[in-house]
Amino acid sequence: MTKKIGLIVGSLREHSFNRMIAEAIPELEASVEYEQISIAELPLYNGDLDRGDGPEPVRLFREAIQRVDGILIVSPEYNSGIPGVLKNALDWASTPTKTAALLRKPAGLVGATPGVKGTILSQQQIRQTLEAAQAYVLPFQKMYISQVMDKVDAERRELTDETTRKYLQRYVQQFIHWIDQVPALEG
Ligand code: FNR
Repeated sequence: MTKKIGLIVGSLREHSFNRMIAEAIPELEASVEYEQISIAELPLYNGDLDRGDGPEPVRLFREAIQRVDGILIVSPEYNSGIPGVLKNALDWASTPTKTAALLRKPAGLVGATPGVKGTILSQQQIRQTLEAAQAYVLPFQKMYISQVMDKVDAERRELTDETTRKYLQRYVQQFIHWIDQVPALEG
C-alpha cells in the first residue's frame, strides 16, 4: 500500500516560508501520499482538558498523526528554539503516554529561516521533544534551509533553488526509507 506522510508546519503565518517548503514536498517526491496536518486549531495544553479523547481539535490532530505512516515537521526557529505553537502541538500528541500518537511514529525534521544557521537550534529541541515522546526521529540526516528568501519565489509560493530542491527530495527519500526500517527496530 502507498505510504502516507503527514506534513506539520511549525508556523501559523499565512505567508510562512516553512509552509512554502512543506507545500513543495509532494511535488518533489511523488512516490508517497501526503496529508497536511494543521496545528492552528489546538488549544493550549491543559492537563484538565486532557481526559478521554480531549477537545475535538485535539482528537482530530491525534487521529491524523495515527493515520499516517510518518510525520515530517517543517518548522522555523524562534529565539534559538522550538516555536511555542509546535511545542504545544507535540505535547498534545505525546499523551496519553501508553497510546500517544507520537509513540513509535517515524519523524523527520526540516527547517527554513531567512537567517544563516538553518534552524539548527530549533531542530535540536524538536528532536529532543520527539525522542521524549518515543517517536523514531530519522538519525544522521539533517535538512537545514538558510537564507530561504533567496530560494523561493514568494509570490508564486514555489521552491525555486535547484540545489535545495535536490537536497530536500533526497531527505524525503531517506525519510521514506527510514519508515521501512522502523519495524526492524521494534524487534
Ligand atoms: C524569529 N526568527 C528567527 N530565526 C532564526 O533563524 N533564529 C531565531 O532564533 C529566530 N528567532 C525568532 C523569534 C521570533 C519571535 C520570530 C517571530 C522570528 C526569524 C524567523 O526565522 C522568520 O520570522 C521566519 O520567516 C519564520 O518562519 P515562517 O513563519 O516564515 O515559516
